[in-house]
Amino acid sequence: MYAIGNDHSAVEMKNIIKKHLESRGIEVKDFGTNSGDSCNYAVYGELVARAVASGECERGIAICGTGVGISIACNKVNGVRACVCSEPFSAKLSRQHNNSNVLCFGARVVGSELAKMIVDEWIDAEFQGGRHQDRIDYIAGIERKNLG
Ligand code: RB5
Repeated sequence: MYAIGNDHSAVEMKNIIKKHLESRGIEVKDFGTNSGDSCNYAVYGELVARAVASGECERGIAICGTGVGISIACNKVNGVRACVCSEPFSAKLSRQHNNSNVLCFGARVVGSELAKMIVDEWIDAEFQGGRHQDRIDYIAGIERKNLG
């Protein structure tokens, strides 16, 4: 199950990506918004991030105008590694090297066909572990220091 969430600027893009995920046989939990009324992207970023951090959802996709604001919000939740990707190469490497568990992008930055390519690369790539595990372990250590 994948979590998906977005702000008002990305309702149409969210629906396209949701349909795309479902066409690939992936179950999707939609955290909204489904309204075009101006809202705070952080609300939806947090919902997606918490669903992933808790294990309720395996991975998440969070979309706002640029992908930036919603990724900042997602990354405030411990255990979440959200990456803004505007092209497939970074999306693939964000899985292979960073074990990203939330993919973010901007509905005002990428078109829907490019977005689907980004999503596909991200879904299909596997984390490579090894030296990359040490690096994300270090990042988890930063989170633990924040608790003090
Ligand atoms: C909303 O206007 C816009 O600020 C938001 O979608 C996003 O781009 C923020 O980072």
